[in-house]
This record gives sequence, structure tokens and C-alpha cells, in this order.
Amino acid sequence: MSRVLLTGGTGYIGSHTAVSLLENGHDVVVIDNLVNSREDSIRAVEKLMNAKIPLYIGDLRDEELLERIFRENEIDAVIHFAGLKAVSESVYKPLEYYQNNLDSTLVLIREMLKNGVTRLVFSSSATVYDPANDPERVEGMPTGNCTCPYGWSKFMIEQIIRDCCHAYPQLSAIMLRYFNPVGAHPSGVIGENPQGIPNNLMPYIQQVAVGKLDHLNIFGNDYETKDGTCVRDYIHVCDLADAHVKAFDYLLKNDSCCLEINIGSGHGVSVMELVTAFEKANDMKLPYQFAPRRAGDLPIFFANADRARELLGFETHRSVEDMCRDAFNYQQKAQKQ
Ligand code: NAD
Ligand code: WQD
Repeated sequence: MSRVLLTGGTGYIGSHTAVSLLENGHDVVVIDNLVNSREDSIRAVEKLMNAKIPLYIGDLRDEELLERIFRENEIDAVIHFAGLKAVSESVYKPLEYYQNNLDSTLVLIREMLKNGVTRLVFSSSATVYDPANDPERVEGMPTGNCTCPYGWSKFMIEQIIRDCCHAYPQLSAIMLRYFNPVGAHPSGVIGENPQGIPNNLMPYIQQVAVGKLDHLNIFGNDYETKDGTCVRDYIHVCDLADAHVKAFDYLLKNDSCCLEINIGSGHGVSVMELVTAFEKANDMKLPYQFAPRRAGDLPIFFANADRARELLGFETHRSVEDMCRDAFNYQQKAQKQ
């Protein structure tokens, strides 16, 4: 049995990954400062999985706390989710974003090396790709020209990790470039419920569906796409969680690697198709209207998923309907609390 430290483990993707790791016989330890999550999520995972999860509430930049975590737990790998992630907020709070996301990664890698922990999986993003690329994103394509400090922070962290892997060959790393994670665990006990008005499509749809918001604005219906609305690669968060288990397994078997891997379904879905799938999966009508394009949106991008399949043996299993059903189920439960 192996033990994995999840930074940012009480968050949306971290809590689902905790479930997948436990399902696959691994132990997890979590550090989170709860800046964008609550302790409840990890307690819900404990209950769901009948497991005990040590939770250290504190900032990743606190070196003494990290020392203590590595001393008190025999850690085989770190999955590094912790970070600030709101695209638009990062534009007016760049210092906060760079300081939090970069400093925490630097402290983490230094403490890992000091404590002989040499396997790292990092939450990167499809946002690191240069927007000028072809819509089907392949790992070797140019990165950069990011549209916001959040995106640049992922771009910079990837470079930091590559430089560290080069300088410290004992370190192995996999940078997972997520596409658009959505949905929730089918139990409905964990999921994504952002504070305030959501920026992302699925959380917005979820809140319209439970009547918290009165309609969805679809940003643009005049793009050169199949139905005029933007196309993205949505991935069920439980599939994404499983990808982390595969990445961890790969690191257990392969020393001295440093890889970027797309994690998406490999298929593009339009906003209109997602709305229709949501209506079908939940047998309801979703009020929406067309609105002007949102600044900065690309018409189409989706993952080339070959590297994930070839290196990690990873493929998605959940459908768009599964994503919609599980997202609504979670939102209904969250609404009642
Ligand atoms: P989330 O906000 O739910 O989880 C991130 C967690 O990190 C939160 O629980 C937060 O409290 C914690 N955190 C932030 N700064 C910290 C610090 N300095 N010390 C300790 N804890 C800290 O976000 P998520 O959706 O679960 O995303 C996880 C990771 O995946 C993030 O790095 C994010 O940038 C990346 N990512 C997310 C998406 C997405 O659409 N959700 C897409 C691509 C990449
Ligand atoms: C999807 C589509 C919108 C809301 C963002 C980040 C990216 C990554 C994932 C972290 C777009 C449309 C949305 C709404 C709409 N995060 N939309 N009405 O922009 O692809 O990616 O999240 O790394 O960095 O930028 O996702 O969910 O915001 O938008 O019509 O109310 O839905 O225009 O076409 P996006 P999204």
C-alpha cells in the first residue's frame, strides 16, 4: 500500500481523487488552507469510503508544516492540486496568484527533495497551450501567449518542474493538462459548488437547474462551429480522478521521467450540445438565452488523448449524460444543506 499527499485535497478535484486513490487501495494525507474549500468534503470522503484521512489545515508555503507532514507520514508521492484558479480574478489580483501558485510549488518541491520524496503529479491545464494552435491540442505544441496570470502561473510552474527534474534527476514528475472538468461523484456528497455567481458553464447550469439563477446566458451563437456555440472537451471529474491514480502508478514504475500529458476525452462538445444533454439526462427544460460572445473565448479546443492512453493506459468512461446527471444530483443535495 502506498501513501499519497494531496495538496489542495479538500478542493473539487482533490476530494474526488482521494476517493479514487482509496478505491485503488492507497492511503491519502491532505494539506489545504481551506481558502476555496471546506473540511466537510474530506470528512464526506472518509464516510463514503469508511477511511481515515489525516487533514493538515494550513498553507503549503509553511515550510515547518510541510516538514511535520513528511515526518509524521511516510509519503510515496505528492499530487499537487493547491492553487488559486479563477481566471478573471487572476487578471486583477496577479500578485496574489503568482505568489500563491508559484511560491507554494517552490516550497513544496524543496521540502520534497529534503525529505526524499521524489514523485510529483501536478495539476496543469489546457490553458498553457498557445491559443494560436490548431484546435486539437497535442502535447508537443507550442505553449505560452496565455491570456491571464492564472494561465501564466501554470505555464511557469511547468517550466519550474522541468528545470527541477533536470537539476535533480531523482525527481520524477507528470504534469496533467486538464481540459474542462465537470460533474460530481454519483453519491452526490462531493462536487463543485462555487461561492457567488459561477463563471464556468456547468456550475452555472447546475444553479439554473435548481432555480437559484433564472436562466443561462450562452455566450455567442455565431462561432464557426457545428451549431454556432463554442466547443470544449468536458471530462467527468471521476474520470479525471482516475487519471491521477494512473499517473501515480506510472511514477511507481518509472524513475526519472518528466512528462506533460493531456487529460480530456478527446472529443469536442458544444455549449448547445451540453445544454441538450443536461435536459435529457435530467428530464427537464433549462431556460437559456443567447448573449454576446465572452471576451477571450476560443471557438474550439479539445484534447488529443493519445499520450494518456499510450503511456498511462487512461481513457474516459463516463458520458456527457453521466456528467450532467451527477452534476444535477450533487447540486440538488447541496441546495438542501
Ligand atoms: P479548488 O479550488 O476546488 O481546489 C484547490 C484547493 O487548493 C482548494 O481547496 C484551496 O483551498 C487550496 N489551496 C489554494 N492555495 C493553497 C495554499 N497556498 N496552501 C494550501 N492550500 C491551498 O480547485 P480544483 O478545481 O479542485 O482545481 C485543482 C487544481 O487543478 C488547481 O491547481 C487548478 O488550477 C487545476 N485545474 C482546475 C481546472 C478546473 O476547471 N477545475 C482545470 C484545469 C486545472
Ligand atoms: C465553457 C464554454 C463559454 C459560462 C475555463 C478556464 C480554463 C480551465 C477550465 C483551469 C465557453 C460558455 C460559460 C456561461 C456560457 N480552468 N459559457 N455561459 O472557458 O473553456 O475554461 O475553465 O485551468 O483555464 O478558462 O470554461 O466553463 O468557463 O466555458 O455560454 O455562463 O461555456 O463561453 O464557450 P473555459 P467555461
